[in-house]
Amino acid sequence: MPQGLLKNNREWAARKLGQDPDFFARLSRQQEPRFLWIGCSDSRVPANEIVGLDPGELFVHRNVANLAMPTDINFLSVLAYAVNVLRVSEIVVCGHYGCGGIQAALRDERHGVIDHWLEPVREVCRNEFGTIDPDGDSRLQLDSLCEANVKAQVANVAKTTIVQDAWTRGQTLNLHGWIYGIADGLLRDLEVSVSNPN
Ligand code: CO
Repeated sequence: MPQGLLKNNREWAARKLGQDPDFFARLSRQQEPRFLWIGCSDSRVPANEIVGLDPGELFVHRNVANLAMPTDINFLSVLAYAVNVLRVSEIVVCGHYGCGGIQAALRDERHGVIDHWLEPVREVCRNEFGTIDPDGDSRLQLDSLCEANVKAQVANVAKTTIVQDAWTRGQTLNLHGWIYGIADGLLRDLEVSVSNPN
């Protein structure tokens, strides 16, 4: 029942206040996150929780398969606000192994509207493997496409006018590509970080 969630919320808020009586008052004045997180909507990858950050510390954009497409006005709006207004210094694109979105892109089946959304993943797949393998949902292929997709999205973020303009005016902005293991709870750095080119 959703009522259970409201009860959980009251208990959580009381616990936070118990630890830090000024917690919500401080947050209500302003947010100063240093990080923008671009992650998958998957319920098993809760952004703040897996990196141990409190409310106010992480600006978050999540969608199926953690895509960063320049045609997505939602993503661009989040990115522009994070970079230009909040002035985050670190952007993390975080994928995860066993991503259902990536798996759906790999399978040669019709799923509906989501197939349009996932077309960029199929593009990454064609670039990475040369073709879409109709039987290509083996664990190994899936995991390597999950990684390749993160790398492609980091490149997409870097190419946006928002990031390019920030770099041109000398604003510190570092991009990172990470991947999360649902099976072990651990993040891995894919070592595709990019920073101001000069
Ligand atoms: Co996913």
